[in-house]
Amino acid sequence: MKVNLLALLLLLFSFAQAEDGYRLWLRYDELKNKSLRNSYESRLASISLPGNSPTLQVARKELQMALSGLFGKTVRIPESRNLQAVLQIEKSSARVSERELASLGEEGFLIRSSSSKTPLLITANSEVGLLYGVFYLIRLLQTEQSIEKLNIKEVPRLALRMLNHWDNLDRTVERGYAGFSIWNWHTLPTYIDQRYIDYARANASIGINAVSLTNVNANATILTQPYLQKVKALSDLFRAYGIKVYLTARFSAPVEIGKLKTADPLDPVVQQWWKDKAREIYGIIPDFGGFLVKANSEGQPGPQDYKRTHADGANMLADAVAPYKGNVIWRAFVYSAEVPDDRHKQAYSEFLPLDGKFRSNVFVQVKNGAIDFMPREPFHPLFGALPKTPVMMEFQITQEYLGQGTHLVYLAPLFKECLESDTYQKGKGTTVASTLSGMAGVSNIGTDINWTGHLFGQANWYALGRLAWNHELSSEGIAKEWICMSFSTDPSLVADLTQMMLASREILVNYMNPIGLHHIMATGHHYGPGPWVANLNRPEWNPTYYHRADSIGIGFNRTATGSDALSQYHPDAAKKWSDPATCPDKDLLWFHHLPWNYNMKSGRTLWNELCYRYNLGVDSVSWMQMVWNRQQPKLDEQRFEQVKMLLNIQHQEAKWWRDACLLYFQNISRLPIPTSYEQPAKSLDYYKSLRFPYAPGH
Ligand code: GCU
Repeated sequence: MKVNLLALLLLLFSFAQAEDGYRLWLRYDELKNKSLRNSYESRLASISLPGNSPTLQVARKELQMALSGLFGKTVRIPESRNLQAVLQIEKSSARVSERELASLGEEGFLIRSSSSKTPLLITANSEVGLLYGVFYLIRLLQTEQSIEKLNIKEVPRLALRMLNHWDNLDRTVERGYAGFSIWNWHTLPTYIDQRYIDYARANASIGINAVSLTNVNANATILTQPYLQKVKALSDLFRAYGIKVYLTARFSAPVEIGKLKTADPLDPVVQQWWKDKAREIYGIIPDFGGFLVKANSEGQPGPQDYKRTHADGANMLADAVAPYKGNVIWRAFVYSAEVPDDRHKQAYSEFLPLDGKFRSNVFVQVKNGAIDFMPREPFHPLFGALPKTPVMMEFQITQEYLGQGTHLVYLAPLFKECLESDTYQKGKGTTVASTLSGMAGVSNIGTDINWTGHLFGQANWYALGRLAWNHELSSEGIAKEWICMSFSTDPSLVADLTQMMLASREILVNYMNPIGLHHIMATGHHYGPGPWVANLNRPEWNPTYYHRADSIGIGFNRTATGSDALSQYHPDAAKKWSDPATCPDKDLLWFHHLPWNYNMKSGRTLWNELCYRYNLGVDSVSWMQMVWNRQQPKLDEQRFEQVKMLLNIQHQEAKWWRDACLLYFQNISRLPIPTSYEQPAKSLDYYKSLRFPYAPGH
């Protein structure tokens, strides 16, 4: 009996210690470095955080939880003001000039400690600014930074920092690889899942201040009373964390739920319907963020159904939410089967003439590249080309085209590559980032215990928030923060994981889409390779449309002698791409159709370079496995094993991509795969025959 009890206790203990990834980067385990812990403890021995508003309660609770965890003892923070306290968290401190405070804006904060004798101060103009400051301080402790002599001023670069969930009301998630939707519409509004609270904490910790709850392929039911009550419950909860809720608006809602005969945006009855709907929503959710809209794209209804423009549609909705200070986020992801022009060019062609025609509360949301979240795309030519329109960046955090739920790919380098690209639109140095008014990431969050399916998917959620706050942060710095908070500050672990994460995106590009290849994935679920697919209804859905491999060579000619998509860029941006001799290898087949024996900068022929890159990609996954395995002693068993198994899948799938793509292209190039490389394991027919009817996310 005794033995059994002991076994049970041990089991319970191991559950309590289980590292299942649920806590994300907010782990707050006891700091192992004793002297550092002691110095933090004395520096934070008494804390003044006066006030009891919902946001301050959240800040207090978070700080109590963090300090109690990190110090290994219960820490309580009273509500009363204490001028003797060594940490003072308060709005508008007398120690900070009015000018300085004004420069913080609505959401910025200051953290200051001039000497060990003066109290450490966190101050801001708003309570949410204080909350951000508290999270910042907690991060300093988690990452074991000094908190002596701090002079930190943080102001977010972008006003709108957003997650877009592509979650359906039946809880499936379009392009979701981490289980079902975390929104349990069935039990809302009465049941508040702890996950909603932890989700809000995680977002506030990285400065996300807006979330759109529903799929862009929208369902009008979300705009009906019972659902609005459910949305209200979430929005009431998120408010304290500085997060506003948006919904996707189905353009045909007036017909579907309003019983009108038309959804024509210029019809006064339709306009009135949306005005009434907005009044109803704001009556329930006074700080509702607004609508996110996908219209006339991939079969979604929109203003063009009535021969109206995107501006007509967006402005109608904008007028409806304007009295309540709401926004409309109108997506520029449009391309039409009827237009024969290169899909790359279509969004630009449609939106450029509309610049200046949108109401001031309309944001046009543009994907990072002109096709569709490929592993690598040159920046979208619309960035910097709409000077009179607030433009938002749309990145995809969920890895639809980047290995889905099973590949370790750190996306900050992809995000940064785009953000730092020079559009030249207002002269040299007009980076994509400098043209933005907001940033959204398509969420990778689901009901999986660790939220994102792949543990390292958490780093991509984290990176999106950090870069939306400050795009100048480095991929390396963000990776290090995340590793220290998620695993430990052990220098060799941090160095190894950082190196692996920083290399991971390029590794995936090599085994999936090297040298500028794109859109060569399988149909529908987009899982695995499908460069042979040529039978889909719409030409621009076929991979053969994009790689254009023929007996002469491979690649999409987008120069003046081809589709001339290059002409949509500023000439100074286009210059390097226009000539294969100056075009970087990474973009070569994106812009050029080149002979198989074209001489690459490496000295290899194009065909041999393809073989080289695909093999390098596969070999690099083996390297990632080696790096991960050698850190085993420093990692907890559960997370070590999970990532190890996923790296095994990634390795198999990298080989699958390499073998299927090289065999297919070889069939066209008629050139041998050099014998120095591992030869394909199966026949091309075998790879073509693979079917995955239940692949997730579609
Ligand atoms: C991709 C994705 C779709 C999604 C679309 C969009 O094409 O595969 O699932 O709806 O992007 O961004 O609207």
